[in-house]
Amino acid sequence: MNLQHILQPSLDLIKETGAFIRQEGKNFDRANIEHKGLNDLVSYVDKQAEQKLVEGLRQILPGCGFIAEEGTAQAADEEYKWIIDPLDGTTNFLHSLPVFAVSVGLLQGQELVMGIVYEVNADEMFWAIRGQGAYCNGERIKVSPIAEVSQSLIATGFPYYDFGLMQTYLDIMEHFMKNSHGLRRLGSAAVDLVYTAMGRFEGFFEYNLKPWDVAGGIIIVQEAGGTVTDFKGGSDFIFGGELLATNGKIHQEALQTIKERWHKA
Ligand code: IPD
Ligand code: CA
Ligand code: CA
Repeated sequence: MNLQHILQPSLDLIKETGAFIRQEGKNFDRANIEHKGLNDLVSYVDKQAEQKLVEGLRQILPGCGFIAEEGTAQAADEEYKWIIDPLDGTTNFLHSLPVFAVSVGLLQGQELVMGIVYEVNADEMFWAIRGQGAYCNGERIKVSPIAEVSQSLIATGFPYYDFGLMQTYLDIMEHFMKNSHGLRRLGSAAVDLVYTAMGRFEGFFEYNLKPWDVAGGIIIVQEAGGTVTDFKGGSDFIFGGELLATNGKIHQEALQTIKERWHKA
């Protein structure tokens, strides 16, 4: 299938969904916050955004499956599966912090072949198709050329419901705090990934991630020239929960820092 044919309708749908989220955010009443688990928040905005995406993507690619955060639709043994996070950065959204995104990845078999991440308030639309490069608002993007962690800005996500590996995580963070230009926690893994893809960050790492947090952004990083691995340096980063994404040039150095501490835990 020529993915170029489904790109534009997918971008239009995701932009419309982003506009819906932006609009709902204007007068959002926190009485609408629901709890899925410890510090795991959701609202009708996440759910309705997901419904819009599922309905639209089903028309764009009939017969596809879905791996969607809010459970609107399911996957079986379809060749193509959309992996959807309708609102990545829900906690930010619910607190009116304007960093959140719509993230959609497309799997063909086991391989990510397309990714789209729309950062709603920045109005930045990122996408990539396997083998065709990565783009932001129509311009080709590339990872940063920086080759040392000491010159890098690194993003991460803090543990917020599973605190079992807290000390290990703090050790890794301490190393990056002392040995880089700084650490950032934006609150949206999708945004962390696309910022790595376009060179604002040299790298991003987090654990306890879900496939919908990362599917859209992973291929955008790869197509922008970056490297993505799990914490062992392997390829179990879509469903495996642990992910290190970098500009490629600092990957071994950053991976070493994580590996040395992580697998002792
Ligand atoms: C969350 C964000 C956050 C990350 C969490 C995710 P959500 O997704 O990506 O940055 O630290 O692990 O669950 O819940 O806002 O879609
Ligand atoms: Ca998410
Ligand atoms: Ca979400």
